[in-house]
Amino acid sequence: MFSKLKRKLKKKLILNNSRHIKRFGLIGTKIESDGSDVFENCTFECNGENNVIKLCGGVNLTNSNIFISGSGNVISIGKGSYISGATFWIEQDGNSIIIGDHLSANSDDNFTCIGGHKLTIGKDCLFSTQINFQVGDGHTIFDAEGKIINETEDISIGDHVWIGKRATILKGVRIMNDCIVGAGAILTKQFDETNCIIAGVPAKIVKKGVGWKK
Ligand SMILES: CC(C)(COP(=O)(O)OP(=O)(O)OC[C@H]1O[C@@H](n2cnc3c(N)ncnc32)[C@H](O)[C@@H]1OP(=O)(O)O)[C@@H](O)C(=O)NCCC(=O)NCCS
Repeated sequence: MFSKLKRKLKKKLILNNSRHIKRFGLIGTKIESDGSDVFENCTFECNGENNVIKLCGGVNLTNSNIFISGSGNVISIGKGSYISGATFWIEQDGNSIIIGDHLSANSDDNFTCIGGHKLTIGKDCLFSTQINFQVGDGHTIFDAEGKIINETEDISIGDHVWIGKRATILKGVRIMNDCIVGAGAILTKQFDETNCIIAGVPAKIVKKGVGWKK
């Protein structure tokens, strides 16, 4: 089934005819590709209207699952990115998951965006396995006056960020360019410094003035 889709993607294609939409579970969702992108063994469960999955050229997306429930959502994957075994999970309207060029994401990474928010990842990033990004907690917490105290917030990851195995990146996190996130870290806030190592639970800056290469 997916070899047919792959063949179609060899041509410039906007996948929006009703036959394909039903067959691939892409209701209300267009896939945009210039034909140089490869989808292999991916599943889609998309419902809503005006959703777009944009592959920016030379993208290799394998063994991944894409779930979209809502309208006006965007997933954009930058040029030359290699992503395997990922889950993209979007709920409600107006969310965007924007990934820069040349991401390498190994397996079992989860990109969750809900409540009309934005998860942005810069270019040249390297993600190990079992990393979770979630812009919201999934359930609301109220204070004594009934005010929500755990609002969903955007996540922003800079360019050339290396994230170690099993790190969790929660709502409102910002990581600047050229940083490293240690294995198992749980990030809960903004880190406004470039070239540092962020590690631990809850994560803190443990080293400054460092660089890294693949
Ligand atoms: C983040 C990392 C790269 C840092 O390595 P490093 O520069 O050699 O760091 P150090 O071992 O000198 O540790 C510096 C401090 O941070 C702490 N630290 C380092 N990694 C940590 C982690 N993952 N969680 C909690 N604390 C950590 C150390 O205990 C040390 O604390 P101290 O100064 O109080 O003694 C490494 O520890 C790490 O987590 N590597 C795993 C990366 C990975 O998942 N790779 C998979 C392949 S992509």
